[in-house]
Amino acid sequence: MVQKLLVLGIESSCDETGAALVQFDFLGDAQHIPSLLSHALYSQIEMHQAFGGVVPELASRDHIRRVLPLISETLNAAGRTLAEIDVVAYTRGPGLAGALLVGAGVACALGAALAKPVLGVHHLEGHLLSPFLSADPPRFPFVALLVSGGHTQLMRVDGVGRYQLLGESIDDAAGEAFDKSAKLMGLDYPGGPLLARMAQEGNPKAYALPRPLLHSGNLDFSFAGLKTAVLVQAQKMVAAAGVSCFEALPRSQQCDLAASTQAAIVDVLVKKSMTALKETGLKRLVVAGGVGANRHLRQQLDEACAKRQVRVHYPELHLCTDNGAMIALAAAMRLHSGVQQPTMNYAFDVKPRWPLDALERLGL
Ligand code: KG4
Ligand code: ZN
Repeated sequence: MVQKLLVLGIESSCDETGAALVQFDFLGDAQHIPSLLSHALYSQIEMHQAFGGVVPELASRDHIRRVLPLISETLNAAGRTLAEIDVVAYTRGPGLAGALLVGAGVACALGAALAKPVLGVHHLEGHLLSPFLSADPPRFPFVALLVSGGHTQLMRVDGVGRYQLLGESIDDAAGEAFDKSAKLMGLDYPGGPLLARMAQEGNPKAYALPRPLLHSGNLDFSFAGLKTAVLVQAQKMVAAAGVSCFEALPRSQQCDLAASTQAAIVDVLVKKSMTALKETGLKRLVVAGGVGANRHLRQQLDEACAKRQVRVHYPELHLCTDNGAMIALAAAMRLHSGVQQPTMNYAFDVKPRWPLDALERLGL
């Protein structure tokens, strides 16, 4: 008999409010098929753009305004009612404390009102497992390259909740390197996707930028120095052209610097991922997080993995950045694998700082 589980996922860790309904069909023999019934997202990016970055207090207030209409929208789109939900999942951390509290509060209030269990999910675990919702889902074990706005990590993943950190950024994350470089090129926040668009028109070899920690002998990353190198290069170009600012340079030069910056970030991510695969002996790579939407990164990883007979898996493009679907999915997978029990205790806390590999140790 096929058992079904309907999970509502709520994401509110940063500047996107997300709600989604994921249905899990259990087929026995540990087999399950997750399907995304509907998801709705509201991005606050425009509101924060005027400030050049996310303003935490504004973010929490806006989550409050958006979350209930988004939940109604997902239910309507899937033709389901609140009473049909089996579990309410929410992002418990890491993220902005006030923003997390909105999702956690709504999820636990909803759970209490419906007398249904609730489950707090680790945001990065959501990203990590999001490729299981794609048309080409991975199988355990695999190496995961997690590249979000705040985190760059390589993990060995042996199963749900079994995450071993292999290396991580010791300063800026890859997403921050994209965003900070984009900012000094005069692009709006978050500049990653805009820089990537300019890079398509540029020459990635035009400027020699550093590949930090490429030969460090470990799997850690450092992108803070790259941002400084981009700044110095931009200043040189402005001085040589005798113009007032970077945006006054010919577009071809701007695109060349964007392409060279993107190439430097991608080069390090690809090489370290290949080293992680070699060291672990694993033949599967999963890429997740916002920077995973970057086309150049996908092309370079596809090429490098093809050479080594490694299968590479990505989330669907629209599920690369923050969303409620990955939260609902991670909750369903945690329940199904037995690593976590849902709770009917509706008292909640949030974890603004929460290392992913601490999940197993805490048994949470
Ligand atoms: O995973 P995510 O949505 O949020 C966090 O959990 O942090 O990642 C957002 C990050 C931002 O730094 C954004 O600039 C970057 O992902 N990003 C990209 C692209 N799309 C999103 N960076 C480079 N190229 C892209 N196409
Ligand atoms: Zn994220």
